[in-house]
Amino acid sequence: QRQHHKPARLESFKKLSNVDIEHFKKIVPAETVLATAAVGGKADPIELEGFNADWLDKYRGNSQLVLRPKTTKEVSAILKYCSEQRIAVVPQGGNTGLVGGSVPVHDEVVLSLRNMNRVRSYDEVSGVLVCDAGCVLEELDNYVAERGHIMPLDLGAKGSCHIGGNVATNAGGIRFLRYGSLHGSVLGLEVVLPDGTVLDNLSTLRKDNTGYDLKQLFIGSEGTLGVITGVSVLTPRRPSAVNVAVLGVPSYENVQQAFKHARQRCGEILSAYEFWDSSCMRAVLHHQSLKSPLEAEYPFYVLVETSGSEKAHDDEKLSALLEELLEQGIVEDGALAQDDTQISRMWMMREGIPESLGKTGATYKYDVSIPIPVLYDVVKDIAKKLEKADLYKPDQSSGPVKMVCGYGHIGDSNLHLNVVADKFEDRVTNIFEPYVYEWVASHRGSISAEHGVGLMKRDYLGYSKSPEMISYMKRIKDVFDPHHILNPYKVV
Ligand code: FAD
Ligand code: MLT
Ligand code: ZN
Repeated sequence: QRQHHKPARLESFKKLSNVDIEHFKKIVPAETVLATAAVGGKADPIELEGFNADWLDKYRGNSQLVLRPKTTKEVSAILKYCSEQRIAVVPQGGNTGLVGGSVPVHDEVVLSLRNMNRVRSYDEVSGVLVCDAGCVLEELDNYVAERGHIMPLDLGAKGSCHIGGNVATNAGGIRFLRYGSLHGSVLGLEVVLPDGTVLDNLSTLRKDNTGYDLKQLFIGSEGTLGVITGVSVLTPRRPSAVNVAVLGVPSYENVQQAFKHARQRCGEILSAYEFWDSSCMRAVLHHQSLKSPLEAEYPFYVLVETSGSEKAHDDEKLSALLEELLEQGIVEDGALAQDDTQISRMWMMREGIPESLGKTGATYKYDVSIPIPVLYDVVKDIAKKLEKADLYKPDQSSGPVKMVCGYGHIGDSNLHLNVVADKFEDRVTNIFEPYVYEWVASHRGSISAEHGVGLMKRDYLGYSKSPEMISYMKRIKDVFDPHHILNPYKVV
């Protein structure tokens, strides 16, 4: 089932022995060391399964040691030793990453942040939250909600992903349209470098122009430059009025038209504009046991969310938008959520797509930024290529490829093109790799809008970055991680 093409193990990395395990037991609490008999420990290899396999069940490592430190000092001691001994390390958060970045490729040590999960401070005036990197995103959102605030990001994996993992991947998600990138809302980071140095840049200031903004380098660095142990993030006021509508749309052209109208009508209260196609809808209704709020089936669906402070005012704006779209024939049907339960059901229809596709089969994911007018063309193009190669029959779910579908954060020009197949195999992959990347590059798009590069895209970086840029990225890697022990084989 899994991808078999792995880069060869670098023999310069030390193979672990019981001497190393004994050392780790001295620098971190013994109960946080999970080592198998292969390296002199007692853990059942099954206990390490969840750390070795990724969410998509596409990438799998063979680590025999997982360390779960509780403090920054312990992280520092671990990395110092690994650096000296040339032991390769994979930092791991909630392990929900989608590009094979969070699991070992071979026998790298997994450094899990899950035991570092405390809120360090919260300032209710400024809304600045300072916390450990291993805090789960949803738990942080609940914590700040009790204080009238909201996390500036949200994603389907919120129940498992860590804020540290979010920062390490520069996650986008469904609030990006409203609150922008983590490059804006992260105010400070505490990072442990591979040699054990603690970079304490845990600022809570919004303004700080004292030279180079080093923390930005770690946002989106995917565990290749340092281990993030602490995060300071600005949390906005939680909107008191949230409205959601789901629209049935007859064409992709109309999805774009409706976006123009939504921005015009809703202005600053527009907080999300997401879309998905009919194949996604069928999968999500089936696997999440949901009922569509619309009577008929449509080629495309849109979820519009508004977030403001005047309920009556916002209701009026969204109703007027819906009326206008229906009158002009831009959408064919629409439903407004009447209460919080309906709001969360509508969001489930969009956020439940990745899990539903996973339940359908082996899912190939391409997370790309392309200009909105041509964004859906790539889905149609790939479907045609697979059909021509006799691997896909659109009206049947049998055959090596069961589904080719598109969804995503269209308000941010971000498409998730997914191909769902019986299994991961070369004859399928070869049809769209590197074709998808060539397609994206020809429109000056990005081959990774929000999921990162990881192992999956490291050989394709050249489609989005010039040789000069890649060369400087490698030089930055050398500065922070001269022995390349952190997340080897990934990104650069
Ligand atoms: P992991 O998966 O554990 O790690 C991801 C990467 O970060 C790895 O390279 C790892 O080495 C590194 N890393 C993790 N923690 C640290 C740390 N403390 N210090 C240094 N490096 C670290 N992404 C989006 O952008 N938008 C979405 O809408 C979105 N939705 C998703 C929905 C689902 C259902 C799933 C499964 C994933 C989704 N993702 C989305 C993917 C996204 O990358 C992750 O969900 C999330 O940001 C990763 O956090 P994590 O804690 O699970 O990190
Ligand atoms: C999403 O927007 O649902 C996520 O990025 C996950 C995915 O692409 O499947
Ligand atoms: Zn996404």
